[in-house]
Amino acid sequence: MAEKTDLNKVVDKVLVSEEELQRRIAELGAQLSEDYEGKDVICVCILRGAVHFFSDLVRHMTCMTELDFMSISSYGNGKRTSGIVRIAKDMDTSITGRHVLIIEDIMDSGHTLKHLKKVLEAREPASLKICCLLDKPSRRECDITPDYTGFVIPNEFVLGYGLDFNNFYRNLPYVGVLKPEYYE
Ligand code: PRP
Repeated sequence: MAEKTDLNKVVDKVLVSEEELQRRIAELGAQLSEDYEGKDVICVCILRGAVHFFSDLVRHMTCMTELDFMSISSYGNGKRTSGIVRIAKDMDTSITGRHVLIIEDIMDSGHTLKHLKKVLEAREPASLKICCLLDKPSRRECDITPDYTGFVIPNEFVLGYGLDFNNFYRNLPYVGVLKPEYYE
C-alpha cells in the first residue's frame, strides 16, 4: 500500500496556528465592518495566495460586500519580484466611484501591491485600501504599508493557509515555516 502523504513533514515550525489565524481574522472582520459601516465595498481577492484569508475574512464582515477576483503575476527572477505586474485575470466589476478593498496574503518587497494600487487608482475608485494577512516589513523595497494587517512576521519562508512552496501546501490550515533543507 502506498504511504500516506504527510503535508506537515516539510514544516519546521508553526508560525501562526489555525486558532490564532481565526481569532485575528474575526478581529479584522469586525474592524472592517465598523470602518465600512453604511457603505458597500468591493472586496478583491488576489489569487491564488489570498484564497483562504479572503473567504474567511469576508464572512466576518457585516457591511454590504461585493466579491471579485484578480490574478496577477510578477515578473522577477526566483524569489525577487520586479514590480512589473501582469494581470492574468482582471476583476469583472467597474470600480469607478466605488469603495475597494484589496485582500492579499502577504506583503514582502511591496512591489506587487504598489503596482496593483497604481493600476486600480487609475480607475478612480472612491477609496482603495489594502488588507494583508501577513506583513514582512524587513523585506520592504518600496514605500507602502497595508492599511490592515493580520500579523507582522519575520523574514522566514512561510507556507500554508494559501501560501505555497512550489505551488503545493496551500491547503495547510496554519502558516508554517519551511524547513531550511528544502530551499537551501
Ligand atoms: C505573492 C503574494 C503577493 C506577492 C508579494 O504572490 O501573494 O502578491 O507575492 O510579494 P512582493 O511584496 O515582494 O511583491 P505570488 O507571486 O507568490 O503568487 P500566488 O499568490 O499565486 O502564490
